Amino acid sequence: MGGVLKNIPNLIVVGGNWGDEGKGKIIDLVMAHYNTTVRFSGGANAGHTVFTPDHKKLVSHLIPCGLAQGKECVMGRGELVDLRLFLEELSQSKKILGGRLPKIYLDQMSPLWTPWHGALEAWMEYARGKGKVGTTGKGIGPLEGLYKLRIAPLVGHIFLDKKKFVEILELLYKTLQPIFKEMQDKHLISGAVPTPAEVAAQLQGYAPKIKPFVADTSFVLQQNFKKHRRMLFEGAQALGLDSRYGTYPFVSSGNSAAFGAAEGTGLPMQSFGATLMVVKTLPTRVGAGPFVSEMWQRQKAMEFVKKNIGLFTDKQERAEFLARRLRKINAGQASNAELSQYFQVLGDERGATTGRGRSVGFIDIPWLVYAIRINGPKWLALTRFDMLSGVKTIPVVVGYRLNGKLLAPGQLPPPWYMEKVKPVFEQWPGWKENIYGTNKEASLPKSAKSFLQRLEKHLKTHILLVGTGPGRQEIIVRTRK
Ligand code: IMP
Repeated sequence: MGGVLKNIPNLIVVGGNWGDEGKGKIIDLVMAHYNTTVRFSGGANAGHTVFTPDHKKLVSHLIPCGLAQGKECVMGRGELVDLRLFLEELSQSKKILGGRLPKIYLDQMSPLWTPWHGALEAWMEYARGKGKVGTTGKGIGPLEGLYKLRIAPLVGHIFLDKKKFVEILELLYKTLQPIFKEMQDKHLISGAVPTPAEVAAQLQGYAPKIKPFVADTSFVLQQNFKKHRRMLFEGAQALGLDSRYGTYPFVSSGNSAAFGAAEGTGLPMQSFGATLMVVKTLPTRVGAGPFVSEMWQRQKAMEFVKKNIGLFTDKQERAEFLARRLRKINAGQASNAELSQYFQVLGDERGATTGRGRSVGFIDIPWLVYAIRINGPKWLALTRFDMLSGVKTIPVVVGYRLNGKLLAPGQLPPPWYMEKVKPVFEQWPGWKENIYGTNKEASLPKSAKSFLQRLEKHLKTHILLVGTGPGRQEIIVRTRK
């Protein structure tokens, strides 16, 4: 692995689907070859699961994944910050890491979360009615949106004198006040909305604890660059949730695409060596929005998890269900809903941040070709490939048809037409063997190897990493001969 990355001092890792691709695990693996890890977008809506060298689990939302391995962590200016959560994450991580923390930088000009952002998000989702985005509820949209309106408090503002800080907050408060009034009238919020003075007191109360972390991170990163420190830039969410090139408005509000690394860090574009795009073998989606290769209906898939939690938590119940269902699938008797249920249980498809059930889709080549067009990855990491084990025939979406016409590879219709897109399927042969945990390409069954090669041919991009289980060792590195 080190050999492959040797000439890539600054690597970007991004998601290619709608999040939850397992970026944390991939970052965990490649991080060994980097000194610094950097976040450049998103905020507390992200959830990356990583492991410490002594195998302790750490779920990070705001702090870069490098924390688990004691690497320097930089939260670039493009990241949105909730100080209370940051301090909470810090103290939990300290416990897990036995008190040792690496150097952590927080940008002085990152947009700063207030309770008002949370309230505005609740209002926006209410106002959308049936057209809800299904956000994570972390105030990400309001934070990014109000920042663009030039009325955002910033992290560094908490160090101003109280009067000045209250003035800044007042502008935001006055803008939102009519909405708060309406929310109170409609009983959407109970109790009083905190005043600017109250919010200022709360946020400035964090100042002494926050101070050691605050910096001009673009300067820190530029110094790192000059010193040839190797840096890993970790994307949050994924291309399908990018605010410009995702399925707007059913997106998050920041730059989840690789180009966001420049905007969110202040490093010039030529600083970045290559992009590794992480793709889930069977893509998933939570929240609302178009998903052409989806197996079942979103709401039903999400409810299935809620109503059948035993299948996810009870080992025996789970094993019996999976065995029964796989027999039905291989007998060609399973509906798409039943296929979805099988893969939801097999992949334990529940969100790390919200615990919501995720809806599963078939492998979607037209989407991936589009994601590759925007992100320009040098390599792909294909996670959860083991989930296809034992499935005799695997349906793969190889084309999109709109109004009877096949779309050119890389062409994506606007989201409001995507519901009309008819996926074109091919049936690819699967394999009998369980490849869970395999970490050598040579140990893969012939049919699994051919599957990867066939996929690569369509995507015209090398699949460098293939995940075969959740553990750090459960991955195949496919170096090109
Ligand atoms: P927001 O980012 O909370 O505004 O949510 C906007 C959309 O992005 C919703 O559909 C969320 O479910 C989705 N989303 C945000 N973060 C993640 C993530 O880390 N994984 C998967 N989906 C996400």
